[in-house]
Amino acid sequence: MKASSPASSMMTPTLMDLVIKKHQGKPGELLGILEELQNRHPHKYLPAETLEYVAEKSGLPVSQVYSVATFYAFFNLKPQGEHTLVVCRGTACHTRGSKSLLASLKKILNLKEEEGAEKIFLTTADKKFTIKTVACFGQCAMAPVVEVDGKMHSHVTEMKLKGLIDALVKGEKKK
Ligand code: FES
Repeated sequence: MKASSPASSMMTPTLMDLVIKKHQGKPGELLGILEELQNRHPHKYLPAETLEYVAEKSGLPVSQVYSVATFYAFFNLKPQGEHTLVVCRGTACHTRGSKSLLASLKKILNLKEEEGAEKIFLTTADKKFTIKTVACFGQCAMAPVVEVDGKMHSHVTEMKLKGLIDALVKGEKKK
C-alpha cells in the first residue's frame, strides 16, 4: 500500500512525524498517535493515508492500525462536520424518546438517512454539522442522552435539543 503521500490528509508529513515522535515509547502509543492526529485534522477524522503513514512510520502492519481505528468508536474514518451531535440509540434512551430526537435533528439539519444504514453518520453539505448514533453512552439513568461537541447532555427534550442547535447555529453566524 502507498504510504508516502498523505496529501489528502491535509496534514503534512512533518506534522505527522512530530506527533508520532511525541508518543513513541509511551504507554498506549498507537492510541495516543491516532487520537492526536484525529484531533488535529480540520474534519476530525483519520483518512486512509494517515493510517498507512502511521503504520509505515511505526513499523506496524497496516491491518493492526486499521483494526485499532475501527475498534474504538471514538475514531472516525469519515470526515466530520465542525459540530458533532451524537444521539444514543440504546434501550433506555430509546424508551425515553431518542428516536424522535434523532428524527427532529435530521429534519432541522435537512439530512436524510441512508436506506438500511445500521449506524447513522450524516454530515450537512456545508460540513458544519455531523449527526451520529451510538449504541449506549453508559449513562442510561440520564436518558435520553445526546452528546454535542464532546459534551454530554442528559434528559434531553425536543425543546432542549432545539436550544442546543440554535446555540451552535448562532455561534456559526458570529464567525
Ligand atoms: S441507553 Fe442511552 S446512555 Fe445507555
